[in-house]
Amino acid sequence: MLVSESKASEILSSNQVVALPSETVYGLAARIDSESAIKKIFSTKQRPFFDPLIVHVDSITMAKACVLAWPEVAEELAKMFWPGPLTLVLPKNERISDLVTSGLESVALRCPNHPVFLNLIKSQACPLAAPSANKFGKVSPTSANHVETEFDFQVPVVDGGPSQVGIESTVLLIRLKDKTMSILRKGNITSEQIAQTVSTSDYKLVEATSKNESPGHMKHHYMPDVPLILVSSGISKEEVINAASSKMRELPHEVEGVVLKKPSQILSAIEIKLSDDPVVAARELYSKLRESAHQSSDIIYFRLKAIHKEKSFEAVMERMTKASSLVL
Ligand code: TXA
Ligand code: MG
Repeated sequence: MLVSESKASEILSSNQVVALPSETVYGLAARIDSESAIKKIFSTKQRPFFDPLIVHVDSITMAKACVLAWPEVAEELAKMFWPGPLTLVLPKNERISDLVTSGLESVALRCPNHPVFLNLIKSQACPLAAPSANKFGKVSPTSANHVETEFDFQVPVVDGGPSQVGIESTVLLIRLKDKTMSILRKGNITSEQIAQTVSTSDYKLVEATSKNESPGHMKHHYMPDVPLILVSSGISKEEVINAASSKMRELPHEVEGVVLKKPSQILSAIEIKLSDDPVVAARELYSKLRESAHQSSDIIYFRLKAIHKEKSFEAVMERMTKASSLVL
């Protein structure tokens, strides 16, 4: 159901959830101070409670009101990249409930670069928690229509046009104790951009260590309704179908709670193609995965090229790998 911005504001004020456009992907939003609405986010998405939500703010001032400390690096990064696709993880204060952070001591904060989302945070004068507006483990939505079909037209959504970035924000954990930072999820804002921005600070960018630091990171995610298979460039369509037919039987039915779809027989396959420009590829990725899955073929496949190994393709390829059931 499409709703206007003012209707969305009423929905949020009455402790309900509404899907909103952002520059990365559409989010399913609720006021952080509404326990019932936050619970509704988890139930609507069928998301496990161990996977924490990102809290969206309209300004650095609002972000500061959610944390125990706001180090100079956070200020530098927020000034550089907000509003935009960078999420900062910092120690939370008592204003942020355990429900939002899945019991973690930290909170993930982002200022989205979309006028509708920003207006609604302002109109509520309250941060909005919002995960991507898709069922758990599935493809993220980059248009209002994606959200409508994902939830059988049961979730109200504001149409703010197609998401311009197209993949989720970069998530950066800031550790105050040892003055280190780690990227927990890759995105359009790269480690080089982050390192450059904080080059004069005493914080160092290091590799993420334990899985506990990024609780939502499953082996499989972003999976389309039809299995996606990554293949090397030279292989023909017939060879893809034959190899997939035998290899898919060996796959488990479920990995970490995400169901792997296995067609009883594989007779047809369609190829998905992305632009060689990584910015365009990111923008197209999720709508292409969704469209291909609706074209009634048994599998979708994507050819891995040399360009996909380049650093500029890292964030897109991370999604492609998690979205795929098999690599041939
Ligand atoms: O671009 C985006 O980030 C979109 C838009 C709507 O803002 N949101 C989004 O939310 O992608 P979601 O819930 O699909 O992904 C949030 C990720 C999850 O992997 C979650 O585990 C991680 O952020 N996260 C949230 N809070 C965290 C925390 N306190 N510590 C570590 N990771 C956290
Ligand atoms: Mg998501």
